[in-house]
Amino acid sequence: MIKVRNQVFHLGTRDTSYIFRVMESGHLEHLYYGRKVAEEGNMEAMFEKQTFIPGNCNGYSDDYKQLTLEDICLEMSSYGKGDIREPFVHVVHEDGSSTSDFLYDSHLVLQGKHELETMPSSYDEHGNAQQLKIVLKDKEYGLTLIIYYHVFEDCDVITRSATLTNDSNEPVQVKRLLSLQLDMEPEEYVFTTFRGAWAREMRKCETVLQPGKYVNASYTGTTSSRANNFVMLTKCGTTEDFGDCFGFHLIYSGNHYEMAEVSSFGKLRISTGINPDGFSWLLEPGETFETPEAAVAYSHLGCNGMSQHMHDFVRQHIVRGYWKEKERPVLLNSWEAAYFNINENKLLDLARAGKNAGIELFVMDDGWFGERNDDTSSLGDWQENAKKIPDGLDGFSERLKEMGLDFGIWVEPEMVNVKSHLYEEHPEWVLEIPKKPHSEGRNQRILDLTQEEVQEFIIETVSNILDSADISYVKWDMNRTFTDVFSKHLPKERQGEVVHRYYMGLYRCMKELTEKYPEVLFEGCAAGGNRFDLGILCYFPQIWASDDTDALCRSEMQTNYSYGYPMSVVSAHVSGCPNHQTLRRTPLETRFHVAAFGVCGYECNFSDMKKEELEAVKVQIALYKHWREVLQFGRFYRGESHSGLISSYQGALAQNRENERSWTCVSQDQKKAVGMKFQTLAIPNTMFATYKPKGLNPQFTYHFSNRNLKYNVKNFGDLVNTASPIHIKPDSIVHNLVAKFVKMDGETEDYVASGDQLMYAGVKLRQAFAGTGYNDQIRFYPDFASRMYFMEVEE
Ligand code: DGJ
Repeated sequence: MIKVRNQVFHLGTRDTSYIFRVMESGHLEHLYYGRKVAEEGNMEAMFEKQTFIPGNCNGYSDDYKQLTLEDICLEMSSYGKGDIREPFVHVVHEDGSSTSDFLYDSHLVLQGKHELETMPSSYDEHGNAQQLKIVLKDKEYGLTLIIYYHVFEDCDVITRSATLTNDSNEPVQVKRLLSLQLDMEPEEYVFTTFRGAWAREMRKCETVLQPGKYVNASYTGTTSSRANNFVMLTKCGTTEDFGDCFGFHLIYSGNHYEMAEVSSFGKLRISTGINPDGFSWLLEPGETFETPEAAVAYSHLGCNGMSQHMHDFVRQHIVRGYWKEKERPVLLNSWEAAYFNINENKLLDLARAGKNAGIELFVMDDGWFGERNDDTSSLGDWQENAKKIPDGLDGFSERLKEMGLDFGIWVEPEMVNVKSHLYEEHPEWVLEIPKKPHSEGRNQRILDLTQEEVQEFIIETVSNILDSADISYVKWDMNRTFTDVFSKHLPKERQGEVVHRYYMGLYRCMKELTEKYPEVLFEGCAAGGNRFDLGILCYFPQIWASDDTDALCRSEMQTNYSYGYPMSVVSAHVSGCPNHQTLRRTPLETRFHVAAFGVCGYECNFSDMKKEELEAVKVQIALYKHWREVLQFGRFYRGESHSGLISSYQGALAQNRENERSWTCVSQDQKKAVGMKFQTLAIPNTMFATYKPKGLNPQFTYHFSNRNLKYNVKNFGDLVNTASPIHIKPDSIVHNLVAKFVKMDGETEDYVASGDQLMYAGVKLRQAFAGTGYNDQIRFYPDFASRMYFMEVEE
């Protein structure tokens, strides 16, 4: 609910309050954001009390001599009038000055969510969201700045965006216009960012803020695997389930900027928006520039509390269309099974093996078009290679249909290889600086999507592919970052607009294609997670999270994605062993357990798999289908805290606090839940463990169980001789024969308990193997071991 009284604005969600006011001077003073407070009273207690200007701070004006903008929390700030922190807006006026002073003019409260005009934004199909529009004017220079707030009561999220209109007769250069500014009172805060690189996305980085600035930004032309645009702020001491946590998202896929600045007076400013570095926008008289929408969520129930709000927001107000609440198929992707070396027979063999194991959708990845035998050529030439796919996409999809499989295809439509017909025919369609050497990335260049003609080409090309066969899934890849950014079609004073215009063009293509083919499941991908953001998720309901499919790495990445993203958007595959990125050997069941908590698929060579492994995969897929609704659309909770102090127990064992991970996913009605426990390295003589699920209904009674797994005798090496009547030489024929017929039973966990018992007391699991014998009630728990647990309400 938005309440306005005496020029005080109270934006209330179910559990939070966001409050600001118009000061006498016309500036907007931010008063409070956090746990819900009453709307009663005039809020004066929250006002900053300034009666003199301290030290050498500057007074705002002759009329407001006591007001200094340097030490006050503001909703919006600009250069030149005394606030020396990072501005929200920076405009260079025609006279060369950078000073702006935007003051309150009017406001309006509207029902419903108003979508952005030039970019994707959140939506509300039920019309429950409310909008507050605050109009600010810089009278000296004839500029109008509007800040839009949207309140999503149901999921405790508030969004902000802004527009700047040039009402003067002179053009101006916009050097920055951010999306969100949040000023806060002095406290000890931790700023958490998610940084990485290709194949190691989403490393959680925590910085205790000190006076000065900390910037998380991307200059790659993409959201980037280097720095995701989701960030968090927590009060020191906050854990997964307790304490103040704020999460910030930007609905955008280009260069972004998240900044935390602690001023000399200890006040904190958080800003998010388009990265001002490399950006500028020429705003002619009468024109308007619009920023992306930023979203912020707060919870006093720690990081899990905030994540729940963000998950709801993304699921309900970002992801849209046919696939929004539809279970996603279990797919088999050809990439790690064959890379570029594909042909119809090989793929059909793979697909057949997949079908037998329960796969529903077969995806032909890179290598099917032009002369694409490696990454040096053919991007742009989107005709199937007749040698590899002799009956065309149509014939190939027919074969799959006959097998009972849906067909999915890989494309990378934003790119072109210099070695391609497209580049020969349309060099003017490419982002590059004429007559200057180009820095190459994966041997490919970026099409200039600022041009309408290029957008049309992409829409037509993808449409032709989709019209040529029965295709129900598209993996839309994008494998390089931007260099030599230059559009041959824009004048020199507009070159600072290229990346943003690129995204406006890309979003147009995505919008038209997803509207034209509403039932096709589009999956975003950019060399893994190089463009994992809410901008893409407004069109594509899921994104390939990383090219790293190693279960250990994925368990960390998926944990970290889960801070800001629901698991229904995180695509995860079970891959071969040893892993292709790390050469690590992890158990097949662990690979499955980790992938099953995302949108689960497979990406390995089923044609070469041992019968025993294929049988195991078949069981996994059947199990996944049974629990798919819970896993894909349930509420996801992280287990033990990763940000608190090392517990005395862990300390005593000199154990890395991230050696253990635990997850729980609970159905929306709380009647079913799936849990997982995962360990990195086995620590001797630590046989006791407790699993504590989260999010259950304390009043319900659940049947708790585990998967009854069997283990290969060879996992125990020459320990087999402690039980065998005859001596068995490790890896000998006898050993292999025994392994074929004798399986070691795994432990059984089977209890009936109330939700509160399970959550608060936890389940004491069977003892893990600790070097002193093995029987069917011992937990076989070596390095990279994991367990999946199931909870179902007893009716
Ligand atoms: C990068 C993607 O992330 C991979 O999954 C694969 O599709 C390759 N591109 C294909 O070139």
